[in-house]
Amino acid sequence: MSELRHLIDVSDLTVNEIEELIATANDIIANPGKYAEKCHGKKLATLFFEPSTRTRLSFEAAMYELGGNVLGFSEAQSSSAAKGESVADTAKVVSCYADIIAMRHPKEGAPLVAAQNSTVPVINAGDGGHFHPTQTLADLLTIAREKGGFENLTVGFCGDLKFGRTVHSLISALSRYKGLRVILISPEELKLPSYVKNDILKKAGVEYIQTTDLEEYMPELDILYMTRVQKERFFNEEDYLRLKDSYILTPDRLVNAKADLSVMHPLPRVNEISVEIDKDPRACYFKQVLNGKYIRMALILKLLQSAGTIG
Ligand code: CP
Repeated sequence: MSELRHLIDVSDLTVNEIEELIATANDIIANPGKYAEKCHGKKLATLFFEPSTRTRLSFEAAMYELGGNVLGFSEAQSSSAAKGESVADTAKVVSCYADIIAMRHPKEGAPLVAAQNSTVPVINAGDGGHFHPTQTLADLLTIAREKGGFENLTVGFCGDLKFGRTVHSLISALSRYKGLRVILISPEELKLPSYVKNDILKKAGVEYIQTTDLEEYMPELDILYMTRVQKERFFNEEDYLRLKDSYILTPDRLVNAKADLSVMHPLPRVNEISVEIDKDPRACYFKQVLNGKYIRMALILKLLQSAGTIG
């Protein structure tokens, strides 16, 4: 029986479903030819009301590699949103043209509104400072491939933990696994919001430590997840300039890190990881980029199969 499913938050997926997506992505990596025509004749609409390089292009590459087609826009100004059309009406209209929608929007909750008004699956491609579930799936695929699983990990999140939606989504996903320890490294002004601490970490009984010092817990980390300070979410330029270079990861800061540490970053990077780190085998951020395409292929397949659009 077909069922219209959307992906708004990573918690829309069960642990089993995430593991199935990871298994499908690994199979796509091993056998790309098997998937080359799975979405023949189907269309993905990419509705991006905010800038993006990775998410939009990886969704588009994913659909092309599945044999499908892509339509959409990359800025609000080139859509009828500029004339005042609502997100709800946009979703109703695009459902008439496309089989599946990926939407990025600066307003928290906009993709949920789209899902409530769409007749095809809607994927949240990032909503304001809220969630970014497909980045989380890319991160989880990377962690699965680098670490072999998700249990008993000590993960340091560093940078803008207030506005960093990729951090909120990844914490939500990892909190479902045993033995997680979280080290939250940020300036006072950019600490993890209380709702993430209370509704996710405390509820799941996850041990967490807050610090302003990048090096204090470095020797204990299995993963260091760096983030940029989100300029676009600041109300004044002065605060952004004061905080933007709070943390810069350079090779000397990794001297006491584990030999098998994974350095992750959702990208784009500004200054927070020195380019010298790119040569370090522990740097995983460009692997995350590639994994993002494979996991989005797996997700498109899952949602279109669920909707009965493909077999
Ligand atoms: N990681 C990420 O969301 O990158 P883009 O903003 O380029 O899509």
